[in-house]
Amino acid sequence: MRSTSPVWHPFTQHAVHGEIPTIVRTEGAWLAAADGRRIFDAISSWWVVTHGHRYPPIMEAIRTQTDLLDQIIFAGFTHPPAEQLARRLVAITPPPLEHVFFSDSGSTSVEVALKMALGFWQHAGEDRRHILALEGAYHGDTIGGMSVGERSVFNAPYEPLLFDVGRLPFPHKGREQETLTALDKACRERAVAALIVEPLILGAGGMLIYEPGVLAEMARICKSHGALLIADEVMTGWGRTGTLFACEQADIVPNIACYSKGLTGGALPLAVTLCGGAIFDAHYSQDRRKTFFHSSSYTANPIACAAALANLDVWRTEPVMQRITTLAAAQAKALDRFRDDRRFENVRQIGTIAALDLAVTDAGYLADAGPRLYRHFIARGCLVRPLGNTIYLMPPYCSTEAEIGAVYDVIAGIDAG
Ligand SMILES: Cc1ncc(COP(=O)(O)O)c(C=O)c1O
Repeated sequence: MRSTSPVWHPFTQHAVHGEIPTIVRTEGAWLAAADGRRIFDAISSWWVVTHGHRYPPIMEAIRTQTDLLDQIIFAGFTHPPAEQLARRLVAITPPPLEHVFFSDSGSTSVEVALKMALGFWQHAGEDRRHILALEGAYHGDTIGGMSVGERSVFNAPYEPLLFDVGRLPFPHKGREQETLTALDKACRERAVAALIVEPLILGAGGMLIYEPGVLAEMARICKSHGALLIADEVMTGWGRTGTLFACEQADIVPNIACYSKGLTGGALPLAVTLCGGAIFDAHYSQDRRKTFFHSSSYTANPIACAAALANLDVWRTEPVMQRITTLAAAQAKALDRFRDDRRFENVRQIGTIAALDLAVTDAGYLADAGPRLYRHFIARGCLVRPLGNTIYLMPPYCSTEAEIGAVYDVIAGIDAG
């Protein structure tokens, strides 16, 4: 039956989805529904909530900021929360990342990154326009984000709008050299403007993990050909992979980095794209045509910036890394029981992210297993949104070992594929 609500939900096929719970309150790792149900948020509300829902110091900072500023235009004006946040982001990221461009979602941070890369080469007077990306990548749902993402059911109807990119094979374990060889070849064949990657793990593409050494080698090859490296840390940032940013594990510094989701602890929408001085300088000119022509009305919203500043304070003053280590250990322990379970394959983990695939004959995002698994979890009070037959957990860092164990008990109750 059609819903009577006028709301059109994202990534939701209304014709088959069934009932949509109304959430009236959140607390820690839990959602409270209007009908009295409590639902464990095992995917941090699409990977944004890091410390827990309504984390007190972040809520407090939001309340305080609303007494001073709401939204102000950011072209030609600035404000203390944005200035402080930019400085503090530069301080916690390695040089040469020293310029901060604000936007309001992960997708827009990627659009900004792509435009920075192309603008850089254009203004530097070098004809480099070709972009490379990994097979299976997901970089958001704006036109640029979809273009560099995998061509799939997610974007098939919009194909005429998407631009061509060079595609590198995903560095599967044991076949990493294929990716590196393809990257080197692509850089020799055409003038590559940039390679964009999700460092260490493809998220929406199926929670596929690859080695830090491969990322380091990709960075080296890009550098040797003068191509820029864009790290899309929208999902991986803010501790998800066990370090503040995933690039740290490969000991690399990208030319451009995108951060969003956990930037505000997941409380408010905000994103940043950081770049080095060379990219800023290529746009810095008396010639106004070299202006970086990108904006959105809510760029650097002061309240969102205040939330992000409070998030940085949480990272500085609270044992966040210790919580991450504890959560990662709890996931590892709980995952162990599925390693020899014939119902599942590819049991894997990086930091706080754990994933396993239900063994099925029809894999992929549209596999029947997806909706069946979703119903299995939600009926048992767990928010888990499988990617096809891939079940993954990415809970907030406040989750306890008992809560994690309970979700794995729900996984244990899944019928074979
Ligand atoms: C790696 C990556 N990039 C970009 C995005 C897009 O972010 P947003 O949904 O905030 O636009 C996502 C979203 O999941 C993502 O995982």
